[in-house]
Amino acid sequence: MSGVTAMRCKWFSVVLFACLCGASFPAAAQNSSTAVDAEGHQWWQHAVFYEIYPRSFADSNNDGIGDLNGITAKLDYLKDLGVDAIWISPCFPSPQVDFGYDVSDYENIDPMYGTLADFDKLASEAKQRGIHLILDFVVNHTSDQHPWFLDSKSSRTSEHRDWYIWRDGRGAGQPPNNWTSEFGGSAWKYDPTTKQYYYHYFYAAQPDLNWRNPQVETAMFDVTRWWYKRGVSGFRLDAVDTLFEDPNLKDNPEPGGKNALGDPIQKRIYNTKLPEVHDVLRGLRKVADEYNSVLIGETWTHDIAELNRYYGVGNDELQLPMDFLFTTVNKLSPAEFRKQIAAVNSASGWPTFVISNHDIVRSYDRYGDGRHNDQIAKLMAGLYLTLRGTPIMYYGEEIGMKTTPPTRKEEVQDPVGRTGWPKEKGRDGERTPMQWNESVNAGFSSAKPWLPVPPTYKTHNVADESKDPNSVLSFYKTVLKLRHTNSALLDGNYVPLNESDENVLSYLRVYKDQGVLVALNMSPSEKKISFELSKQGFRSLTALAATEKSSADGDVVTLEPFGVFIGQLSK
Ligand code: NOJ
Repeated sequence: MSGVTAMRCKWFSVVLFACLCGASFPAAAQNSSTAVDAEGHQWWQHAVFYEIYPRSFADSNNDGIGDLNGITAKLDYLKDLGVDAIWISPCFPSPQVDFGYDVSDYENIDPMYGTLADFDKLASEAKQRGIHLILDFVVNHTSDQHPWFLDSKSSRTSEHRDWYIWRDGRGAGQPPNNWTSEFGGSAWKYDPTTKQYYYHYFYAAQPDLNWRNPQVETAMFDVTRWWYKRGVSGFRLDAVDTLFEDPNLKDNPEPGGKNALGDPIQKRIYNTKLPEVHDVLRGLRKVADEYNSVLIGETWTHDIAELNRYYGVGNDELQLPMDFLFTTVNKLSPAEFRKQIAAVNSASGWPTFVISNHDIVRSYDRYGDGRHNDQIAKLMAGLYLTLRGTPIMYYGEEIGMKTTPPTRKEEVQDPVGRTGWPKEKGRDGERTPMQWNESVNAGFSSAKPWLPVPPTYKTHNVADESKDPNSVLSFYKTVLKLRHTNSALLDGNYVPLNESDENVLSYLRVYKDQGVLVALNMSPSEKKISFELSKQGFRSLTALAATEKSSADGDVVTLEPFGVFIGQLSK
């Protein structure tokens, strides 16, 4: 990563391949004894994942902050929506400097979110509904309040000294090298007790673990075992790019210019994406495989070669490296999406599609034109829920929640928003409370929520949208239902169509003699397309799901502005 602004609007140059992508998946990644279909696919290849930012989802004890019992209370909603796995952003004990991404105990629940008993209840209730639980594993760093770090900083000879990265400065007041923190300023903090600097890629309250120390590896691998035994089905691995640093601490090159936080722009070649990362991922995967579990990675990949490295040679690392490709396409461009889809489909592992998360501006705003935002939200659902791969949704996306950034610096909760104000307003805007209904605080809590509820809760909320057959929520439900029941959508090849069309992105998903056509109008005017389906070996086309004024007549599909048509093909 190269700066928070870059994290929020990253651009990728992608190696492009026009391809007709197969549904096959390299044999090494498959375990036939745990396959869920004849293709040897594993449960996580059929599952729809849903990210929950626990502070903001549902507040059961009315203290203004969401909690685990709140999530449990909403499991029926998630099941009905069509979610098979929930990834919960960190809910472990934490001083909350980075809202949980600063963990002070990996094997417990922060009291603000509940107790281990609440977690067990959530796990058992989720299991009853066939929903898997995925936890967020902060592997790169701990909190500076973690007992390991407190011991580490207590003396140069303490038991845990070498669990973190301590170095002498270059001279009086001079950090060991020029590395800057993702969140601003030097990545080194001087500790007057032991007169050395410790390294922190993120906030100073998030010291980096020393993964070159085998004791760190053992302790962290054991954390995953501990949670697997408690019923967890996998982890989202936080910031894996940053696990290792050059042992000689070479300065990063500075090509010139400053980032949004005022630091010199750096090419982080000596402290990100070091090859040793892959040894750790292989180790974590071995443990995950013992529990038929999945590893999702926060992986900032620039091209397919990099993405492939995260799958691992022989697919023995991450099953779902979140490629972030879609999070970087910020305009509705069929050509751009075609390129990204083809590229991901040409990779050596199973694709993962993400359009929003807790660090980036929501897809509703990135693609919305200010007039047709709801139609465009449906369009995006029609796209990433029908592709070959695993989608990871973000809470609120299904009701068209918008990013609502703070308007005054004093309101900002995310520290990086205070450092970077006004250029970088931080990530509060995409973390606002879930909009459940029209009542006070959108039904999230009866107390004042930790972040303000966006005014759109009056028009975009679960209760109202559940009653409206044309709402964003109803469209999500329809498409998600199809995804779970249609074999072409589950297992089919991706076949791009009409690749020079500048307005409509269309493709087939084909499995054996089953076919599904997906047509997505990315323009503000009506479009009519003749698909000549006989050339693809199909005769007739019937609607499976479509936006209000989109339809098919023979093999001519009419799409309203930003309309979606998904149809079943027959031979
Ligand atoms: C990535 C997480 O998604 C982000 O929210 C967090 O601030 C950093 N990693 C540091 O853990």
